[in-house]
Amino acid sequence: MNELMVTVPATSANLGPGFDCLGLALDLWNTTTFRLGGDGINVQVKGEGAGQLPEDTGNLVVQAFTSLYVRHEATMPRDLQIECHNLIPMGSGLGSSTAAILTGLIAANFFLGQPLSKLDLLYMTIEIEGHADNAAAALFGGLVLVAADVFPPIIRSYSLPPLSIVVVVPKFNLPTREARAVLPEKIDRRDAIFNINRTALVVDALREGDRRLLMTAMDDRLHQPYRFPLIPGSQAAVESANKLGAAAALSGAGPSVIAFANDNAREVAAAMQAAFRDAGIDSRCYHLTPTMQSAHWYG
Ligand code: HSE
Repeated sequence: MNELMVTVPATSANLGPGFDCLGLALDLWNTTTFRLGGDGINVQVKGEGAGQLPEDTGNLVVQAFTSLYVRHEATMPRDLQIECHNLIPMGSGLGSSTAAILTGLIAANFFLGQPLSKLDLLYMTIEIEGHADNAAAALFGGLVLVAADVFPPIIRSYSLPPLSIVVVVPKFNLPTREARAVLPEKIDRRDAIFNINRTALVVDALREGDRRLLMTAMDDRLHQPYRFPLIPGSQAAVESANKLGAAAALSGAGPSVIAFANDNAREVAAAMQAAFRDAGIDSRCYHLTPTMQSAHWYG
């Protein structure tokens, strides 16, 4: 096979209390075509990241692709044309880096004859990225629970009832590394208990589509209190969604905010964008649904 198309969904990690162990796949996709041949390794980026992402071997897709070839001591293809059609906004807390890494690993795995299982691919993504929640959601779809401190990682994936999701993406750059650096090394036992019970309740509330329960459950004491101050308008955006009955949280490490709306998604989006605007931050808004479809490929 000389040609392959890889499609990977956006993901939202944590969902409030489920720090580093909950993820949700969203119906927003990056699609990348790989063609063996041409002259050298070339990358073309269209859509999100066009004009910003490197279009050479510095591209994260190529780096992930290369890392699998290196691991298998295989010879890299000399000529490979890669075309990325990106819909996932970069650096937003919607798993764009995870999508790039997975895209490269899935493509390399395909051209190497599929030596790695999905769990192996997950494990390799964790090695590259340091956390598992986005990758697990992208690889398995739906609402995903992941325990990544064991090998192989343990994954549970659940389908969800139809949910109306609003994600507001502020024009504000916050690298995940910085958003993790502000987190304390040690936590109070009461905060741990708070998050343990909320995490269990979030899973139940989402699976049942119980928005009332979700309002109570989607709360957190382990990461958001430390991250809100880094992202102007983010706490106000969460609170403005809550006032309209929509549970909300930072998407992953932020800076985006994800909210679960009722039939008032437009109102919720407007209130969240107003909160960012009041803090002097422009934003974009996405109306999304969960997807049960995971990363997939055609070759
Ligand atoms: N669980 C990670 C964090 C997700 O919150 O740092 C990053 O997208």
